[in-house]
Amino acid sequence: MKNLFNKKILLIICGGIAAYKALELIRIFKKNQCNVKTILTKGALEFVTPLSVSSLTGEKVFTDLFDYKDEAEMDHITLSRWADVILFAPITANKLAQLSHGLAEDLATTVALASNKDIFLAPAMNVRMWENNITKKNLIKLVSCGYKIIEPEIGEMACGEYGSGKFSDPLNISKSINNYFKNIEENKKFKALVTAGPTREYIDPVRFITNRSSGKQGYAIANALQNNGFETTLISGPTNLKSPDGVKTIKVNTAEEMYEKSIINLPVDIAIFSAAVADFKVKQSNLNKIKKETFEKLELEKTKDILNYISKHNKLRPKLVIGFAAETNNIEQNSIKKLNEKNCDWIIANDVSNEKIGFDSDFNEVKIFKRNVSKAENILLDTKEVIAQKIVEKISDELKANA
Ligand code: CTP
Repeated sequence: MKNLFNKKILLIICGGIAAYKALELIRIFKKNQCNVKTILTKGALEFVTPLSVSSLTGEKVFTDLFDYKDEAEMDHITLSRWADVILFAPITANKLAQLSHGLAEDLATTVALASNKDIFLAPAMNVRMWENNITKKNLIKLVSCGYKIIEPEIGEMACGEYGSGKFSDPLNISKSINNYFKNIEENKKFKALVTAGPTREYIDPVRFITNRSSGKQGYAIANALQNNGFETTLISGPTNLKSPDGVKTIKVNTAEEMYEKSIINLPVDIAIFSAAVADFKVKQSNLNKIKKETFEKLELEKTKDILNYISKHNKLRPKLVIGFAAETNNIEQNSIKKLNEKNCDWIIANDVSNEKIGFDSDFNEVKIFKRNVSKAENILLDTKEVIAQKIVEKISDELKANA
């Protein structure tokens, strides 16, 4: 499992009989030269001792949020930032419920809530608890918030009952984590370009034409691409958003600047045009502020269509070109028209007439129209971050399938 080499894993052990198997998991991680730090919940302390855990990790064990000595050494924020990935193994039904409600009751849940890393959950519990509708609902909520589940196995349990809920084999768990890093590693060879936000087309030094785009979906896609290993460049119109960590972000104002910076940053393997580029600019922008008394009319002309230009360029065209279609009506018809006319591989469409998911919302719901595929793929209502992650997973699969 060579992709585990030198990785930093924060292992959170919760209180269940399967906690003892976490020791075997640590052994596998250490054998593959991972750095492992651990948190033991109050419940876990009943099943395994900090001494056995620290003997295997070679590290201090963290146990409680309110141990001020621990907090002074490495607080919950630092711990979550230190890790490349966070793994709850085993996680109990109770801890799943706490996470799904966003509780921060102890060090484990506080770290998860404060984390900016991917979090894996390897549940272990009695079959009735696992199959309980409340647990299922909690899991669905966690998955839709981006948590990754390593499913338990079917088998005989410590309590003597038989069924699903048995802690996944430590080797399987370590393989899932290895695959996660492998996927990121493979994506590192791909370069991605994302355009995002609105543009401003100046009428004079104080007035401009723009639109309601917040740039949130484009920024979330750039962030997800970078987190999944892609070397990402973001060309952004004016927004209030913070540049995603590790992403090369270039700020522009006008469509012309966005066009220039996009071209300069080619070639890439994949380009996602999520910017709401202003379609019109004034023919002659005025150097001085226009006075009302002298104003007669504005003459407009079309801006350059960046997507259209790049997707039809026989030398510059990336392997995968994805356009966006923000529509208020006839979504399917308009999207397929854009897909064909702009020579895209995919069009990601959203209904901006729906206030819940439209401009400036933190939520979205999209349909992906693909070339030569008759049925659109739906990504249902979710946060823009989760939508972005799902889009990036599809991109990653597509690039690998055509590699
Ligand atoms: N686009 C672009 N450059 C432009 C205009 C649009 O790159 N000057 C890209 C957008 O980033 C998006 C796609 O083209 O990926 C579709 O944009 P949209 O505004 O929905 O379509 P338009 O072609 O502008 O058509 P209309 O506004 O009439 O729907």
